[in-house]
Amino acid sequence: MKLFIDSANLEEIKTALSWGMVDGCTTNPTLAAKNGASPVRSNPAQRDAVPTLERTSNGVNDFLPIAKQILSLVPGPVSLEVLSQDYAGMTREGVALAKLGKNVVVKLPTTIEGLKACRALVNKKIRVNMTLVFSALQALLVAKSGATYVSPFVGRLDDAGHDGNEVVQEIIEIYDNYGFKTQVLYASVRSPLHVKQAALMGCDIATCPFSVLEKLVQHPLTDTGLSKFLSDWKKSGLKPLV
Ligand code: E4P
Repeated sequence: MKLFIDSANLEEIKTALSWGMVDGCTTNPTLAAKNGASPVRSNPAQRDAVPTLERTSNGVNDFLPIAKQILSLVPGPVSLEVLSQDYAGMTREGVALAKLGKNVVVKLPTTIEGLKACRALVNKKIRVNMTLVFSALQALLVAKSGATYVSPFVGRLDDAGHDGNEVVQEIIEIYDNYGFKTQVLYASVRSPLHVKQAALMGCDIATCPFSVLEKLVQHPLTDTGLSKFLSDWKKSGLKPLV
């Protein structure tokens, strides 16, 4: 199973990449807002002078340079999400985003307009990640639209009292039934347990916040075992082998 980092924070992305186990990155407008929004440049005249892609509701989008850095840092796919909600706007934005780098995956919401835009982008050979998926039926439509990735939001389903894993299991079964090539990207990860469940179900990818990625390796028995090895060696008076 591939592991993506679900972050728009450059330091987090660099650190996780240095561990050598991160295969890609997913971002979304909330993550971008945390890392790129600049309330300083909110003058409407200044704002209107810049292209749509570089605008936010409250100013110039300082996320664009960050997105470009993420694209150059991450060797694998990087999902960048559109802000438009209509077919034409999403398609236009998707085409513009795809020009930012070879590893761009355009992230679209799973709505009728989003599915239409997905088909249009796929026809232009642009990879799409359909996001905000909360049901197996949505995932079926996503696969039929030719998306490269489907992102079921497991944590948010769990938060709402549903069983997110059950939805993922259904998606996998449906995709297997028909041989759909769309990859299942387990999203809205809250814990290492989610990552294990994703792997057990055979998901293609799990996208994890930095806080979860760094917990994956942790085990108290590893820590106590390691300090015992070191203290036993020290007590013995043996010299290091090399
Ligand atoms: C996936 O691509 C999304 O960015 C992400 O997993 C959303 O997770 P959240 O529910 O923690 O916001």
